[in-house]
Amino acid sequence: MEKRILVVSSANMDFVMNMRTIPSAGQTLIDNGSYRFIPGGKGANSAVAIRRLGGDCVFCTRLGNDANGALLSNLYKKEGIDTRFIARDDNNATGLAAIMVEENGVNRIVVYPGANLAITSDDIDNAMTCYPDALFMQLEIDPEAIIYAANCASKAGVPIFIDAGPATKAFPLDRLPPLEVFSPNETETEIFTGISPSSPENCLRAAIALSKIVNAHYYVIKLGGRGVYIYDGLYYHCLPAYDTKVVDTTAAGDAFTAAFTLEYLRSGDVERAGKYGNAVGSITVSRAGAYTSLPTANEVAGFIKARGIKL
Ligand code: ATP
Ligand code: RIB
Repeated sequence: MEKRILVVSSANMDFVMNMRTIPSAGQTLIDNGSYRFIPGGKGANSAVAIRRLGGDCVFCTRLGNDANGALLSNLYKKEGIDTRFIARDDNNATGLAAIMVEENGVNRIVVYPGANLAITSDDIDNAMTCYPDALFMQLEIDPEAIIYAANCASKAGVPIFIDAGPATKAFPLDRLPPLEVFSPNETETEIFTGISPSSPENCLRAAIALSKIVNAHYYVIKLGGRGVYIYDGLYYHCLPAYDTKVVDTTAAGDAFTAAFTLEYLRSGDVERAGKYGNAVGSITVSRAGAYTSLPTANEVAGFIKARGIKL
């Protein structure tokens, strides 16, 4: 039976603008690029990734009672996600992210969280009745909801996987129960530790610093085009990324951590999970948008075979 992952996290509609260069402060720039509305949100991206990779995914989030909420809810159902624990909120609009993507694929994102910030302890209690094999969260919802869900999972003996995006120094990491995995990207690592994981030596320094502020079995630092660094308090693995032409990095981190979590639950092998996550991340950055860039299990299998990757 496939692993059931409960995602308690965010859902957004992304307003994506593709442009040659971003405007500086106070500047109005006319750029004949393109714009699109694409489903996104860190939690939704990971939920869709888990499903497309063959996992059983239960998604707990809040959407507004508006057109975007209706559209996203239908889309998740079509993906085969269990949507019973998605609440519709009369008082808050569906989350929206404004994303600027430059020609080199680098993005800048501002999120209006809306209904995402209104996820309640009742929403979480209801969702926990699905008997998950793991709880997966990011930091894009109310910190109190994250701490509450983590404590529920911990009491039920459910392993907890946290993707640390987006990070703020103010997030109360010390209130989290012991985690299975804590996974920040480079910027998030620097925000939490003050150390940029810019070299193998700095990765180790940063991972040790993380281990002093969050109790986790594994620290999984996403390094963009350099791959991933995994530390368990004693040993580390440095797994290089798979080279590709970068179109848009949006959702690469969400897809990586989703794939890592699923493959780790399946195999119990962090190195295998890291390589699988790198393959999924590499495919994701080679395509535009969030929802539109997430690969299926067959696509990943094809990528692994074509590159001769030994998991
Ligand atoms: P996001 O852009 O969604 O915020 P992130 O910053 O959280 O992503 P990254 O570290 O940029 O996460 O990317 C996640 C994973 O995607 C990496 O660990 C790697 O596996 C893959 N990846 C990212 N950038 C590249 C790249 N240039 N080439 C190949 N793989 C990449
Ligand atoms: O990680 C990418 C996501 O961050 C986007 O889809 C956007 O909605 C923001 O949540």
